[in-house]
Amino acid sequence: MTTIIKNGTIVTADLTYKSDIKIEDGVITEIGENLSGGTELDATGCYVMPGGIDPHVHLEMPFMGTYSSDDFESGTRAGLSGGTTMVVDFCLPEPNQSLHDALLRWDNKSTRANCDYSFHMAITWWGEQVWNEMESVVKDRGINTFKHFMAYKGALMVDDDEMFSSFQRCAALGALPLVHAENGDVVAQLQAKLLEEGNNGPEAHAYSRPAEVEGEATNRAIMIADMAGVPVYIVHTSSEQAHEAIRRARQNGIRVYGEPLIQHLTLDNSEYKHPDWDHAARRVMSPPFRDKKHQDSLWAGLAAGSLQVVATDHCAFTTEQKRNGVGNFTLIPNGTGGLEDRMPMLWTNGVETGRLTMNEFVAVTSTNIAKILNMYPKKGAILEGADADIVVWDPNKEKTITAGTQQSAIDYNVFEGKHVKGLPRYTLTRGVVAVDDGEVKTREGHGKFVAREPFQAVNTALSQWKEVTAPRKVERTGIPASGV
Ligand code: URP
Ligand code: ZN
Ligand code: ZN
Ligand code: ZN
Repeated sequence: MTTIIKNGTIVTADLTYKSDIKIEDGVITEIGENLSGGTELDATGCYVMPGGIDPHVHLEMPFMGTYSSDDFESGTRAGLSGGTTMVVDFCLPEPNQSLHDALLRWDNKSTRANCDYSFHMAITWWGEQVWNEMESVVKDRGINTFKHFMAYKGALMVDDDEMFSSFQRCAALGALPLVHAENGDVVAQLQAKLLEEGNNGPEAHAYSRPAEVEGEATNRAIMIADMAGVPVYIVHTSSEQAHEAIRRARQNGIRVYGEPLIQHLTLDNSEYKHPDWDHAARRVMSPPFRDKKHQDSLWAGLAAGSLQVVATDHCAFTTEQKRNGVGNFTLIPNGTGGLEDRMPMLWTNGVETGRLTMNEFVAVTSTNIAKILNMYPKKGAILEGADADIVVWDPNKEKTITAGTQQSAIDYNVFEGKHVKGLPRYTLTRGVVAVDDGEVKTREGHGKFVAREPFQAVNTALSQWKEVTAPRKVERTGIPASGV
């Protein structure tokens, strides 16, 4: 099957140029002028970019007594309709469960995916079995990223001891640790105090997780990773305090990556003051939406390169599920949606405002992610030999976001009423057209798992440096006799 994308302007992370693209059997086989011979897709007036990669989603996630309501089918359909052609989900073993048994569950759920996907493995408990199995997760399953939750005390949280052990194991295996950085002990105390004072509404969720909680944990995770000799990736960086810790570390030569979410870039904590309980509860996620001033910091980080990636943390719960927390905000399932809206919202609020160039847009939605997660240039590239995960982006196509027309399975949208300019004309997943002139035509089960090799260069460099700077016993000539 041959497809030609004609008359468009190719935009990658570092180049903008006019050219056609030939796709054969799901792969880009030629980039050049005046290509012909196959099904033609007209990209006149459009930008032809690597499809978006969302490095942080939770589809059908077992969490807080329920399951997130978008599964691999509706979640990837939502992604494709907004120009995202790959997602990375988190495999969450139960306490004492084998990592491989947990993976079987994730393998089962993901058979319905409409686009390609990969997994991160979460370290939800610690012991010799986990330490052992981490190796085969990396070597046999092609999963080179391990997630650590510093929050959700009594559930997913790991302590510093466990984190330091796991980070060292990651260093040895050529894996990259990921961290949800919030101080779970402080959150738990603040939650109890707020409830005791009768502060039980959704706004108290935000009060219980101030930016300091995130700044402290981010700094701690970075320092622990540095001591373990491994790079670290901080998920959902939402505040200046967390960004500051990342910035400072990078200036000191530490390899750390930061991932703001489209929600934190564009929505703020005034949402929690809304008089309607449902409105506020639907926006409960961790970290919470912040004061507007944090948004400037996150946008600046993306432009300056101190933050590298924009994700969604898509974890969608229905209004009914959110109501589990009426009378006690700590029982509101944490999470918001965004898969369908990340690309148009970032384009509208980033490229259309001049905060980001088109090339920076491609970098933070796709190419940087593919590089950081070690799947470039199979993903995240417009190059001969790369997978044909492509979005043909029409900068003049507009819509107003509304739950009534979304692909996501839930009954509301946190971006309801936002006007976006810049939407896919076509989205291709390994050459298959999933958005066709704006119309969504996905194929359930088309998506394949993307295995990722262990990291070579950075982990080797860091372990070499660790060896060079390792503590060494000083050999002395004159040792005084003891007890003299
Ligand atoms: O509130 C959130 N972010 N829910 C999903 C789980 C997580 O912490 O990433
Ligand atoms: Zn998280
Ligand atoms: Zn998450
Ligand atoms: Zn308009």
